[in-house]
Amino acid sequence: MRKNIVAGNWKMNNDLQETERLLNDLLVYDVPENVSVIVAPTFTNLVSANTMLKDSTIEVAAQNMHQADNGAFTGEISAAMLKSAGVNTVILGHSERRAYFWETNELLATKVDAALKNEMTLIYCFGEELEDRKNGNHFNIVKEQLEEGICHIAEAEWKNVILAYEPVWAIGTGETASPEQAQEMHEFIRNTILDTYNEEVAQGVSILYGGSVKPNNAQEIFGKKDVDGGLIGGAALDAENFMAIVNAF
Ligand code: PGA
Repeated sequence: MRKNIVAGNWKMNNDLQETERLLNDLLVYDVPENVSVIVAPTFTNLVSANTMLKDSTIEVAAQNMHQADNGAFTGEISAAMLKSAGVNTVILGHSERRAYFWETNELLATKVDAALKNEMTLIYCFGEELEDRKNGNHFNIVKEQLEEGICHIAEAEWKNVILAYEPVWAIGTGETASPEQAQEMHEFIRNTILDTYNEEVAQGVSILYGGSVKPNNAQEIFGKKDVDGGLIGGAALDAENFMAIVNAF
C-alpha cells in the first residue's frame, strides 16, 4: 500500500570499504516509523550490505537485473541470484540504463515480469528528457513509458511496485522540477494508473520523485499530495544528507 519511501541509488559509487563506512554512518540514525528506507549499493556489495543491515529496517535493493532466469548472458545477474543473496527489491529502468545501456520500454516490460515472477518488489523508473519537456511532449512520453513498460501487469501485482518519476533533465544536474511540476506529473501518473486499472491501484501505489532531491528541497517536494517520497542519487552518498531527506516528511 501507499507508503512514504526514500530510496538511495548509489549508482557506480563506493567500493566495499566505502560501502561499509556509509552503512555504519547510516546505522547511527534512527529511521522514522512512517518511512521505508531503501539503499541500492552496487552488485558486489549487496551481500555485505544486507548482513550489516540485518537488524535495521533499512532495506537493500539492486540497481538492475537481467530478465532471463539463467543462461549464457555473460556478466549479467538474475532475479533468483539477487533473491538468493537476500535482496528482494530491484530498481528497473533508471534513465542511465535507458540512455547508456539502451533499455527500452519493451525490454523493461520483460524485466518487470521477471521481478514479479520472482516475488520481488520493483522500483520502475521513467521520466522525460529536456527536449520532451521543451516540446510539451512530457505527458505523452511518461504515458508511453508506463503503458509499454508496466501497465501490462495484473492488478494484484501492483502491491509489489513502486513508481519513480525522474525527469532526466533534473538528474545529477542540481536542477529540480519545482514541487508544482512534480505534483502535476505525479497526479497525471496516478490518473493514468486509474484509467488503466482502478481507484484502489491508483491510490495504493507509491510514486517517488527523483532528480536533485537535497535536504533543502525535500520537504517541499514530499509535501505535495501525490509525491510519496524520493529516489535519491548524489545526496544518498552522504549519511547526514540522506537522513535529513528521510526525515523530510
Ligand atoms: P540525483 O540522482 O539525486 O543525483 O539527481 C537521482 C537518480 O538518478 O536516481
